[in-house]
Formats: sequence, C-alpha cells, structure tokens
Amino acid sequence: MKNKNSFARDLRIDRRCLLRSSIAVGASFLLPRRIPASPENGLQVIEARPSKYKLIGKNAKPTEVWTYNGLVPGTEIRVKQGDEVRVRLVNKLTEPTTIHWHGIRIRNDMDGVPGLTQEPVLPGQSFDYKFAVPDAGTFWYHTHSRSWEQMEKGLYGTLIVEEIEPQNYARDISLVIDDWRLTDEGQIDVSSFGNMMDHSHAGRYGNWITVNGQDQPKIGLPRGDLVRLRLINTCNSRILSLQVPDLNAHIIAVDGQPINPKKNGGEVLQLGPAQRIDLSVEANSTTPDLPALTAFSSRGESIKIASFDIQTTSGADYGKYKIPTSLPPNPLSTDLDLSQAIRAELRMEGGAMGHMVKAIYKGESRDIGYLVRSGQAWAFNGIVGMTDNPLLAALKGQTVLIEMINDTAWPHAMHLHGHHFRALERNKKPINGAPWTDTFLISRGETVLIGFVADNPGKWLFHCHMLEHQASGMKTWINIQA
Ligand code: C2O
Ligand code: CU
Repeated sequence: MKNKNSFARDLRIDRRCLLRSSIAVGASFLLPRRIPASPENGLQVIEARPSKYKLIGKNAKPTEVWTYNGLVPGTEIRVKQGDEVRVRLVNKLTEPTTIHWHGIRIRNDMDGVPGLTQEPVLPGQSFDYKFAVPDAGTFWYHTHSRSWEQMEKGLYGTLIVEEIEPQNYARDISLVIDDWRLTDEGQIDVSSFGNMMDHSHAGRYGNWITVNGQDQPKIGLPRGDLVRLRLINTCNSRILSLQVPDLNAHIIAVDGQPINPKKNGGEVLQLGPAQRIDLSVEANSTTPDLPALTAFSSRGESIKIASFDIQTTSGADYGKYKIPTSLPPNPLSTDLDLSQAIRAELRMEGGAMGHMVKAIYKGESRDIGYLVRSGQAWAFNGIVGMTDNPLLAALKGQTVLIEMINDTAWPHAMHLHGHHFRALERNKKPINGAPWTDTFLISRGETVLIGFVADNPGKWLFHCHMLEHQASGMKTWINIQA
C-alpha cells in the first residue's frame, strides 16, 4: 500500500510503508485540553513522562513517546496577555529535563536552559515556573535538555497568549506540525539518534507527519466565519513548505508578533523549525467541502497533512469574504538606536560540504576528523558549542546588531531567547519592515544583519533551532546586564 503521508523518500532509505488505518477520523474541533490547576497552590501540573500515542492512526499500534501529561502535543497552556503562567514541571522521565517557553520575553531565571539559567530538573524532582507573559500571540514550550532526542520523542506543547480584548474569530485553532522518523513497526527510530549524517547535513528529517499528534486530521471550519489558525513547526529540523487551500488566508502574525494582514493567495508558506504563522481564514459559499492542507517533501511531492471539514451553519453570512483587521501591537521595544548600537559578527561554519578544517572545542583547537568523532560538526566564530564568554555583552536598553554570516552549505533557523529581533539587511542591502521574529531562517551563503533592543537582562541562548545542529556545535549566548 502506497502511503500518502510517508516522507520516507526524504530519508533516502527504502523502507516499507507504514500501515495506515482505513477508518476515517471524525472532524476534530480541537478544544483546548486543560487540566485543572491544583487548588492549594494554583499551579498547573505538567508531568513529563513516557506514554503511548496513536500517531499513525486509530487502528495501528500506538507509538512509544515522551509526553507532557500523556498528550502529543502536551497540554495546551492558554492565558491572557499580562497574566502569570504558573506551571509545576514534574519529571517522571529517566533523565534530567527542563521546559523552555519559546518566544516568550520571559524573566531569565524561568527560561529553562539547563546550565545557563537553571539546574536541570532530575528524575523524580519538580520545578515551578512562574512568569508573566508580556506579549499576546502564538508561543510554545518544549524541553531544552538533550532536545534533539527529548523533543523528537514528543516533549512539546502550545502556549497561547490571548489578547486582552477578544478578537473577532469564530474559532481559534492551533495546528502543531511535527515530523517523526518511525520504524516499520511505527516506533520512533531511536537507533538513528546522534547519527552524524543527520547532524552534519540538514538535521533529522522524519518519514511521518502529524498535525496535533494525528495522521491527517480533519479540522472543522464553519462557512462564512473568520477563523484563526496558528501554525507551529515543532519538527527537529525540517523546514516545512506548506500550502493552504483557497480560504481567503491572510498572515496576521509571525512568531507571535502581529503584522499588517498580508494576503496569501496559495503561495507556499515556509515555516522553519520553531517558527509560527497565524492565519486568518474563511470558508466561503464556494469553498469545497474538504480542502487539504499540504506539505511538500524535499523532493517536491505535495502531501496532504490535514484537511478542513467545512461546516455550513445556519445564519452565517458567507456572501463575501471578510477582511481581517490587524491584531493589537505588543509592547515590544522597536526603536533601534543604530548610532549607539553594539555590533557583533557571527560567522557560521562547518557541516557537510563546508570548508571548516578545524575549530576550538572544549578550549582546544581540533581538526574536523576529531570533531566529527566527538559528535561535533559546526562552529560559530571558530568555536564549537557553548563558551564561557558570551558572543557579546550589552547593557539593558542598548541596541544590538548581529551580522550573521552563513558560511555553510545549509540553511539555519537562528533563535534568540528572551527577545524578538528583526532583519535589517540581507547581503548588505537594506530590508524594510521585516517582521519581529524570535527565529530566523538564514539561507546558505547569506549574510543577514539583525537588530534588537536588549531590554531583557540575563543570559540568553542564541542557537540554531535545527536541533541536530544545536547538538553538534551551533550555540552561543549573549549577556545583558541590568
Ligand atoms: Cu525553542 Cu532554545 O529554543
Ligand atoms: Cu542549523
């Protein structure tokens, strides 16, 4: 049986197709899955624990995964802008873990980076995360401990921060897209964790795509109403190329930050690892019943990953499309003072087909053969992995400019913790009005200047979100003094 979901060719391995259930899955309304806060302390409990989950269909054998509260994606956390998130992480895994709150301009000691902002949470122990959320938007949380394995096994969930004023959407639906590398038995291929082929090339690509932990779910959409779709890429390394059907789609936010609504007329949306796009969509009277959301494999095949189950409700006005309005702006520092800015250069090197011959690793200059034998493949400014000294030190409020030079043969998804930044120049040519993002896809050979106001004191990781690249050298940090 030829399986339409199978991304097996991306692995360039010949493998038997996974068996798919032939039972149709009912339309999913995807209501937020909340668990009650415990009454004594008001903390929402998030248990990191092994579980089994039906990633490949209702009738197939479940896959052994690691989860937050037994769910893939984990329990949705939904709060209002300005609220305090109060979560108790309970570690029921066999190894240390932490939670990082991706994209939140958070207080530093809650950022969840073991060894930089907190001690790892050991098996059997717990850690209380309490922090305010300054920005409304689409965020997510995930493990930051051996993330190339822990996240691949399923440790991630959505963190949705609602605007203070309710927005004009009939439904608000998160679509969390992940790829998994499964064996013929439908289990996570653990034997290829740490595979240097993946680490030195594009990262681990899976052969099975899920949306909200399901195989090709049907997403209920009412005709004639605006719906907010929150697309989130939780793949380890895959850059998703997505095509949304004709639903009068407009991009309304990127990485949690609002933009002026921008029409998407079926153009392919690129979503790098960790990136988010919020869309306003609307099914009209002419929309077919089950339009598909598709993704392209790296060989260009278009594959259905979900479909929209268009429901006609009485009384809805679907004569003509509504135009989405802009979301209210977040309290971001957007005034860059270029004359007083501090500047740093970040030269990205290494990887397959690169020309890095040596780099500093654990304080010693090592040749590439030694590095690869040690599981390393990439460097920033000639240094592999974390350093004692930050890439740069800034004072609170200073404007920071970082010139990223991608001197590798691969794209990278650069993520800065605790801030949003914007691209100012590409290959020395100015860019106007780039969105404020927390993760930026830089193409091979490209040089991109980014800028931001260092308004959040602390030690902030800056790394490639292709988790295999991060694991094998692509990480550094910046220090902001209060
Ligand atoms: Cu979403 Cu440092 O990561
Ligand atoms: Cu990378």
